[in-house]
Amino acid sequence: MTRTCLSLACILVLFGAGAFAAPNNTDTQNVTWSDDVAPLLFEKCVKCHRPGQTAPMSLMSYKETRPWARSIRKVTSDRTMPPWFANPEHGEFVEDPTLTDKEIELLGKWVEAGAPQGDPAKAPKPPTFSSDWQIGEPDVIFTMEPFEITDDMEDHYQWVQVTNTLDEDRWIKGMEVHATFAEAVHHNLTYLGPPDATIESVQGVGQIDLTFVSGWGPGVEPMVYPDGYGKLLPANSTVFFQMHYHKTPGPGTGGIDQTSVGMIFHDEKPENAIQTMWIINPVLDIPPGEANYKSSSSFTPEHDALIFNYTPHMHLRGKSMRFTAEYPDGKEEVLADIVDYDFNWQLTYTPVEPNKVPAGTRISVDASFDNSADNPLNPDPTIRVRFGEKTTDEMMVGFIHYTYVDQEHQADMPRQALPEAMREQFEQIRKMREQQRAAKAAESGQSGE
Ligand code: HEC
Repeated sequence: MTRTCLSLACILVLFGAGAFAAPNNTDTQNVTWSDDVAPLLFEKCVKCHRPGQTAPMSLMSYKETRPWARSIRKVTSDRTMPPWFANPEHGEFVEDPTLTDKEIELLGKWVEAGAPQGDPAKAPKPPTFSSDWQIGEPDVIFTMEPFEITDDMEDHYQWVQVTNTLDEDRWIKGMEVHATFAEAVHHNLTYLGPPDATIESVQGVGQIDLTFVSGWGPGVEPMVYPDGYGKLLPANSTVFFQMHYHKTPGPGTGGIDQTSVGMIFHDEKPENAIQTMWIINPVLDIPPGEANYKSSSSFTPEHDALIFNYTPHMHLRGKSMRFTAEYPDGKEEVLADIVDYDFNWQLTYTPVEPNKVPAGTRISVDASFDNSADNPLNPDPTIRVRFGEKTTDEMMVGFIHYTYVDQEHQADMPRQALPEAMREQFEQIRKMREQQRAAKAAESGQSGE
C-alpha cells in the first residue's frame, strides 16, 4: 500500500528535498533523472506506476524511482515493461508504449552512471491525473455494488449484474472505467445481455450470447469511437461486468472495490454502427505437456468492412494469436500479430487507421497454446485442457470491433464466427435448439392462456 503524505510540512519536504541533492553533473554526456529519465518515465510508465494504480510502485519522483533503477534496466531491456505484445513488424497501433532501442539504451546508461538525479530544477513537473472523466461528463454511469476484497484473496473472478434503467436504445460514443480499488483490479470486461439475462445465464459457454462492449485494466486508455461511429446499447439491456481481482495476499491488503463504467452517447443514431465479432474456436483439446498446440478460426465478411481493433483472448496457456487478412485477390496481410500473449494483460490493439477489407476477405485467427512446464503461467502441465470459462480451462477468441462500410448492411452484422469445418454442425445444433425452444414456448403458451 502506498503511504500518503498529507501534511503541508511533509509535502514541502518531498518537493524541497531535491534542492539539497548533488549539483547537476557538468558532463552533458551523462544521463540524469532530471534531463532524460523523468520525461521518458512520465510519458511511458506513470499511467500505471503512480499511487492508486495497479503497479507495485510509483515512478513519479526521483526518490521513489531510485531504488528501482536496476530493476528498471532489467525489465526494459528484456522488454517485459511496458507491457505490449504486438510484433512491431505488422501494423501500427495507437497508444503503443514500446520503448525504442535508444530509450532502452538511455535507461541502461543512467543505471550504469549510478542513477544520478541531475539538477532537480530541470526536471519536468510530474503529470497530473484527474480523477474526473477523461471522456467528459458521462451520460450514464453503471456502478456495481461494493465488493469486498479480503486480505487473503489473491486471484478472484466475480461476475456482477449492474442496474440499467435505460429503456430506449442508445448509441455509445465512448466509455471509461473507474475502479475505486484499482490496485487490486486486474481487469473489467463489460458485456450486454438481453433484458431477461441473469447472472446464471452468463456462466459457462452460454456467455457467447452476450455482446462484449469493452475490456479495461488499470493503465488502459478510455475507448472513444471515431466520429460518426457508435455501438448500440439496446433498450433494457442487462449490463454485466466480469471483474478479475488480483493482488498479493497478506494482512492489510484487502479493501472495497466499486467499479463504475461511464459512457457518453451520441445525441442521435450515428451514421455507422459498430459491432463486436467473436472469432472463436470452441473445440480445444490440448494434450498434457504440449508446447505448441494450434487452433484457428475465421470470419469472412460478406460486405466491405472496416476493422477498428483486435483483442486476443486466451487463458493461462495462451501463447500467440495472429490476425491475417486473405484478400479475394489472393494477397495476404498480417493485421495484428500478438507474439508473446500474456493472460495477465488483456490488451486491445487499435490500428492508427481502421483496416479496410473488401467483401470476401477471410480474416483468419491463428492461435497457439503452451501446456508445457516451460510456460511459467501454466498451473498444471500434466492435464488435458479443454474450452471453458474457468481460468484453468482455455479459450480461443479473437475479438474484433468492425462495421460494414455500406450503411444498408449494418442492421444485421454477424457477431460470431466459427471455424469453417464446424459451421454446419453448429448450425444444425442451433436449429434443433430453436425448434425445442419454439415447441416449449408453444406448450407453455397453451397452458398459460
Ligand atoms: C499498463 C500498466 C503499466 C505500464 C505502462 C508500465 N508498467 Fe511496470 N508494472 C506494471 C505492473 C502491474 C507491474 C507488476 C507486475 C507483476 O506483478 O507481474 C509492473 C512491474 C514493473 C517492474 C518490476 C517491479 C518488481 O516488483 O520487480 C518494473 C521495474 C517496472 N514495472 C517498470 C516499468 C517501467 C520502467 C515502465 C515504463 C517504461 C513501466 N513499468 C510501464 C504496470 C505497468
